[in-house]
Amino acid sequence: MTKEFWNQRYAAVGFAYGEEANEFLKETLVDIPKGKILFPADGEGRNGVYAATLGWQVSSFDLSEEGKKKALKLASQKNIIQLDYQVGDLKDLSYPEQSFDAIALIFAHFSGDIKSDYHHLLQKYLKKGGYVIFEAFSKNHLAYNSVNPKVGGPKDLVTLTSLEEVKDDFKDFEIIRLEEMEVELNEGNYHLGKGAVVRFIGLKK
Ligand SMILES: C[S@@+](CC[C@H](N)C(=O)[O-])C[C@H]1O[C@@H](n2cnc3c(N)ncnc32)[C@H](O)[C@@H]1O
Repeated sequence: MTKEFWNQRYAAVGFAYGEEANEFLKETLVDIPKGKILFPADGEGRNGVYAATLGWQVSSFDLSEEGKKKALKLASQKNIIQLDYQVGDLKDLSYPEQSFDAIALIFAHFSGDIKSDYHHLLQKYLKKGGYVIFEAFSKNHLAYNSVNPKVGGPKDLVTLTSLEEVKDDFKDFEIIRLEEMEVELNEGNYHLGKGAVVRFIGLKK
């Protein structure tokens, strides 16, 4: 999907994926010591802003200027004064190496031709002993979004993920949790209904 697609989606009234953070992120952050966290492809900021309300020092980025506007609006609603949100593509951004305690990829669906490279690129920004928190639609999700388009998610197999791909992209990580599961999503207007996801928590060795 192009930047124009995302800008159009986020320019509409309301929050496309809701104002609430993703459930898996919420349950995972409870167990991790707070520090600096990066949210790639943070969209309208529901996840980054949530982490900031818990006291994490948050950096987010996304292709979409409209996403950033919404994220800043949400941050101000939650009395968050400081949200470092950069607009751009990962390949054009840079962060200090080994500077984050966690990186949270929540439905950060990079297109199939770049996603592995981007997963590798992101790892250099993570400290040793830092966490990757990852949730994305799996290849089996096609069986769900073909019958219920409201659940959303990519429509092409190469952009969707699998357990094997995650293991391969995060080879140097200790696996704390890795599973594929069916979930019932209730996230705004565009993640509604049953879907198939891969969830991963990994610790950088
Ligand atoms: C399904 S939305 C998820 C947004 C957010 N993570 C959430 O869960 O609410 C996918 C997001 O990925 C962003 N995105 C896709 N490719 C990107 C890239 N190469 N660099 C930065 N953002 C990207 C889009 O702009 C969009 O906001």
